[in-house]
Amino acid sequence: MDILRTPERMREWADARRAARNRIGLVPTMGYLHGGHLSLLNVAADCGCDAIVASIFVNPAQFSPGGDYEKYPRDEKNDLAMLENAKVSAVYLPSVRDMYPDLYQTYVEVRKVSQELCGDQRPDHFRGVATVVAKLFMAVKPHVAVFGEKDYQQLAVLRAMARDLDFGIEIIGAPIVREQDGLAMSSRNVYLNEEQRVAARCFSRGLFRAKDLFDAGVRNAETLVATARQAIEEESLAALEYAEGRDPVTLKPLCGAVDAITILVAANIGPARLIDNITLK
Ligand code: PAJ
Repeated sequence: MDILRTPERMREWADARRAARNRIGLVPTMGYLHGGHLSLLNVAADCGCDAIVASIFVNPAQFSPGGDYEKYPRDEKNDLAMLENAKVSAVYLPSVRDMYPDLYQTYVEVRKVSQELCGDQRPDHFRGVATVVAKLFMAVKPHVAVFGEKDYQQLAVLRAMARDLDFGIEIIGAPIVREQDGLAMSSRNVYLNEEQRVAARCFSRGLFRAKDLFDAGVRNAETLVATARQAIEEESLAALEYAEGRDPVTLKPLCGAVDAITILVAANIGPARLIDNITLK
């Protein structure tokens, strides 16, 4: 497993792989890896990638001022052991200084889809995500990049960016990996104490209740969303940020009878801001 720590070294590696006609797959992460991250590596392998690169970079540009950038969990040694075990070809680990040197001033803004849901309370969040992923694309030169549906809006933002800027990179969405009790895996789950960890089940409880209704024939968007919202509102340790029903492809708001719907939820539980979603179709 090769470890590349600068954009220059990463580009040289990518050029050599492209010259050898390898199909490069990129899985961007902020580290503190879990089963959700590892599942993305398998998806990349299943799409015929024979040179898989994982990147680890806690990106300051996507954290709000006063957010959890400093506290964000990091464990490079364990992450590298997990990636070695998963047989990735290379890990890209750039430094903040190399990514954002003095005089850095270029940002990628994906307008409409960035400005609501998770972008509503955090106006610069998706600008930071799009910018860092564009930079990772330029350094790693992948044919394919895999992102989790766990961050459903992020996936929509990055699909729009790759299309609008003609990156020529195939963007693949991978299903949410959950703990046994339904909680979506997330590096931020480590912030939860025992009581908060139990409370966090309210996300998946509500989303799966909505799924049961949908499977039983309920098609009214408001009813389905209200079910997911109620489970979070009933949990005293959870402070709801939003619960919304959106078109699974365009993320436009839905109301009335629907054929397909993605329900997206966000809430704070103690120190952790957590998100989850489910697509019903
Ligand atoms: P991070 O939160 O580390 O997530 C890295 C990738 O793993 C993202 O594509 C995310 O959607 C996916 N992922 C996280 N938890 C998952 C789960 N339970 N099931 C499936 N996939 C999951 O998302 C980011 O980092 C950053 O914003 C990044 C894209 C790396 C840009 O900085």
